[in-house]
Amino acid sequence: MSEAQEKKKIILSGIQPTGVFTLGNYLGAVKNWQQMQEDYQCYYFIADLHSLTVHIDPKLRKQQSLQAFALLLACGIDPEKSLIFVQSHVPTHAEMGWILACCSQFGELSRMTQFKDKSAKHPENINAGLFTYPSLMAGDILLYQADYVPVGADQTQHLEFTRDIATRFNHVYGETFKLPEGYFPKLGARVMSLQEPTSKMSKSDTNPNATISILDEENVIIKKFKRAVTDSEMEVVFREGKDGINNLMTIYSAVTGKSLDDITSEFAGKGYGDFKAAVGEAVAEELRPVREKYAELMGDKAELERLMKQGAEIATKISSRTLTKARKKVGLYITK
Ligand code: TRP
Repeated sequence: MSEAQEKKKIILSGIQPTGVFTLGNYLGAVKNWQQMQEDYQCYYFIADLHSLTVHIDPKLRKQQSLQAFALLLACGIDPEKSLIFVQSHVPTHAEMGWILACCSQFGELSRMTQFKDKSAKHPENINAGLFTYPSLMAGDILLYQADYVPVGADQTQHLEFTRDIATRFNHVYGETFKLPEGYFPKLGARVMSLQEPTSKMSKSDTNPNATISILDEENVIIKKFKRAVTDSEMEVVFREGKDGINNLMTIYSAVTGKSLDDITSEFAGKGYGDFKAAVGEAVAEELRPVREKYAELMGDKAELERLMKQGAEIATKISSRTLTKARKKVGLYITK
């Protein structure tokens, strides 16, 4: 890392390795991560420790971590510019998470909406990790003294929690952590399901027509957009109640950079059929290089592992500075 990069503000974010990213993950998060690399010092990681809170086949988990790492690279996260690593390769995270879990109160962890939702949905597996998930996440962020954390709406409560814990720790033990702020990019597109445009596009949707995977083939993408649910009007305009069209316009705008007004004029007098075809083609075009790069990367596992190791080494070095400070502050005995 050069000195110029060290002076830039720090952006940090993580993504769980739970399957191929959707167009929603891409336009809502990862594409912005890629663009932020120029202006910030960016740290991005695969949150595999967080994913342990959901029990899946270990072989699948292992495969998904490698795939997620390759996907980030395929989406343009450049290891020359940004730090990219796998959380479990950097042992400071688990230790920081434990120290912070000991500063987290049962009451506040019980009030986390994600914990409540997940416990209600999966009463058969309310594990302790699900409960202390926010403490581990706080550690991820605070270890790197991050200035900004781009997160979706479902994670803002965890970010608030991180600030609370950091404030408390700093108050009790003296200044240790920087207070991170949320980062909400102008173009952070919220992509909805193509079949049920009032709910978010989700990896786990059982209807394959509802989601676009970033590795979908061109003809599949075009077909899914053709089938997208719209309304019985004719006008391509962003307006309340036109959820399907609003979603397609949001996607088209995020991919092409065109404003909503420009899109309305572009399709004035044309039908939804033309519009859907244009959106499908634009998305297929946008994702082609991602798909090609991914295939290339997955063909060279040795190179992927080299990049993983390189990232882990740098991340360990940077995060150890804060961990050592925190250890001293709480009075863990450190030998000379
Ligand atoms: N909890 C986040 C999610 O599920 C992933 C995550 C883990 C994360 N640690 C983080 C995001 C730190 C931002 C910063 O989306």
